[in-house]
Amino acid sequence: MQRIKIYDTTLRDGEQTPGVNLNFSEKLEIAKQLERLNVDVIEAGFPAASKGDAAAVQKIAQSVKNSTVTGLARCTQKDMDIAWEALKDGVNPRLHIFLATSPIHREYKLKMSKEQVVEQSVAAVKYAAAKFPVVQWSAEDASRTELDFLAEIVEKVIQAGANVINIPDTVGYGTPYDYGQIFKYLKQNVPSIDKVDLSTHCHDDLGMAVANSLAAVENGATQVEGTINGIGERAGNTALEEVALALRIRNDYYKADTRLVLQEISRTSTIVSKLTGMVVPANKAVVGANAFAHESGIHQDGVLKEKSTYEIISPELVGFSSNNLVLGKHSGRHAFTNRLEELGFVIEEDEVNELFAAFKDLADRKKEMTDDDLVALVLENKISKDDQYYQLVNVSVQSNENEHTATITLTNNNENITETGSAKGSVEAVYNTLEKMVDESVNLLDYRIQSVGGGRDALAQVFVKMRCADMDTSGRGLAQDVIEASAKAYLNAINRVLYLKENNESELVN
Ligand code: KIV
Ligand code: ZN
Repeated sequence: MQRIKIYDTTLRDGEQTPGVNLNFSEKLEIAKQLERLNVDVIEAGFPAASKGDAAAVQKIAQSVKNSTVTGLARCTQKDMDIAWEALKDGVNPRLHIFLATSPIHREYKLKMSKEQVVEQSVAAVKYAAAKFPVVQWSAEDASRTELDFLAEIVEKVIQAGANVINIPDTVGYGTPYDYGQIFKYLKQNVPSIDKVDLSTHCHDDLGMAVANSLAAVENGATQVEGTINGIGERAGNTALEEVALALRIRNDYYKADTRLVLQEISRTSTIVSKLTGMVVPANKAVVGANAFAHESGIHQDGVLKEKSTYEIISPELVGFSSNNLVLGKHSGRHAFTNRLEELGFVIEEDEVNELFAAFKDLADRKKEMTDDDLVALVLENKISKDDQYYQLVNVSVQSNENEHTATITLTNNNENITETGSAKGSVEAVYNTLEKMVDESVNLLDYRIQSVGGGRDALAQVFVKMRCADMDTSGRGLAQDVIEASAKAYLNAINRVLYLKENNESELVN
């Protein structure tokens, strides 16, 4: 059985999803979960993109021990020096550098000849290899590059010291057959190819990212890159959980497997979804809410008689548990922390007090607290305390037939401010009032509400996407009341923008 390495780029390519901007503690929480999932490599960010990215990559490199941590850099000394500072304390510092190779990118974006692209790549790999024990070089837009040129440059960067060669389908243009043939060609035409790991990195513009990645594996790829839930720019990246399950369930065909702890898949998916605000569609393979639901009578009958009639993946294999233990208002601190530990969270002592208080507060109002509630509560606590410029003190809405009027009190710089505003809808009234209070012009792009678990007293989780101060931002809010959750989500998004503005963090990357 061949072992395929899993390279997770949720925190880099996944974070390039429009409107997704994770804060420091959210990135760290995702990285810790990826380590529990046992991915081989975590691409933690793009250190040269912003100070915040560099700081998060550094913290992740220092904290993660069982996965290798890497960061992205362009083929410039400045980018690579910044990446070195961020990554040097990691267990096995590894750099990922890239340069586009396709004719379209060479002519229109880079304005460089083939020779110049080779020269810059080789120089960068040599520079990186002098510092980093492992250097990965990516041919951006490789799938639209002339095959003979791709083979030539790959051989040259291997000679220069690259240990991993990545062949991205940057724009999601490939089909399984022709993308697979690129790997076959490289295996046959690059003399040094067996000295390196050959990596696949696909985007899902035509819905073929997972199929393309698996075709690459069939043709010699030893590493698969992707993200959890397939999030990422445009249509997203290869969904790693789907690749891992395809290799496990169909290892009779692929004769390959990964080292992932598959039982961690469900929780990883939930954490990524909640922290990024990217809701997982119910019909999503492997992690969707309906992935294991059998609706038709014929199917239910079959599954009751023998599961394998209609079930090729058991829910337990990917960590969906039927053991949803319930806690209530009489549950003590010990039962609470025990359950959090069983759910895989490592909670610091100072966090426990705060979390337990929030748990008690909720348990007073809600009959039963399920695992879903606890996970939501812990993740809610990951909303950074450093960037809470505006905090909600109180929100109420008075409604009559024609109009809703919101009255809101916030704190800002230890000062309470109160405002009222009206609209035809209650959430609209809340958002009109908040817009007056935060003194920013806000364009709401998306608003989504989800219940956490079932029951009429379920917690409400609201996700918003908005454009504010020329930046796309997103926010989330959790509360038992939908109006309160809506107000919190709005303020969370605003606070993220204010933090980025104050810390002068705009995207520096092309
Ligand atoms: O899609 C792509 O080409 C990338 C590179 C930076 C590897 O993400
Ligand atoms: Zn990509």
